[in-house]
Amino acid sequence: MPSRPMIARTIPALHRALDGLRARKASIALVPTMGALHDGHVSLVRLAKRRARKVVVSIFVNPTQFAPTEDFGSYPRTWKADLAILAAEGVDLIWNPDVKVMYPDGFASRIVTDGPATVGLEDRFRPHFFGGVATVVGKLFAQCRPDIAIFGEKDFQQLRVVTRMAADLDLGVKVIGSRTVRDRDGVAMSSRNVYLSPEQRRAAPVLFQTMKQTALRLRAGEDLQAAQSSAIKTITRAGFAVDYFEVRHAETLQGVTSIKDGPLRILVAAKIGTTRLIDNMAV
Ligand code: PAF
Repeated sequence: MPSRPMIARTIPALHRALDGLRARKASIALVPTMGALHDGHVSLVRLAKRRARKVVVSIFVNPTQFAPTEDFGSYPRTWKADLAILAAEGVDLIWNPDVKVMYPDGFASRIVTDGPATVGLEDRFRPHFFGGVATVVGKLFAQCRPDIAIFGEKDFQQLRVVTRMAADLDLGVKVIGSRTVRDRDGVAMSSRNVYLSPEQRRAAPVLFQTMKQTALRLRAGEDLQAAQSSAIKTITRAGFAVDYFEVRHAETLQGVTSIKDGPLRILVAAKIGTTRLIDNMAV
């Protein structure tokens, strides 16, 4: 039975715990999360355990990546269940700072992102998002100084942005992407899936199914624009308002004109009711 993880809530407590973990030069993996953990997070932790001797999971609902109109206040907070999951997975340390610890009075600095953060996907609909993510992830890297950090591929643009930032700022952290975990019907696991009504949840597999169909059609030679338009129609018919359904270069996230411009990634964001889902798939 794995022992209960250590929990740090202040910077000195974090550093004391990390000094202990680093004894005998053990490698450290960080898994940044906002809590409300599900099987997708468990797979990130398991990958972290395979790749490093010690695993730190941060749980911090980061206010700077939410717009005032978004769900910061109602974002699911499930501390007891999260703790049970992380204890069962044998995590070594949970970093769970308060907002005042992460952003003390007078906090006035921010990481500005470019490149994959400004390609007109999530950034078009959530202009504040990547600045907030990069700033908090930069701080988490500085606080925990991990050797590696694991991020889910489900937030594909975020993975690209964080990878770029870690390299650009010489943070000495290797960022590793982990495959999306899906329910049996293809719906990508997400903490926000709890917002879906039973009827909306029944409609949700259309995102996965349409990406799969589109990948097949593109590989069979269908025109890119035609495939994208048809995908948007299918998803709209299922009751979603589509923000984007785009085929992009998988590394740069820039637009492409042909399947020959690959490797390609399909990226989708769509809203059903008040819940916005995002997903992606390799072509
Ligand atoms: O993907 C998330 O859960 C968050 O954006 C992250 C990376 C933990 C930063 O707050």
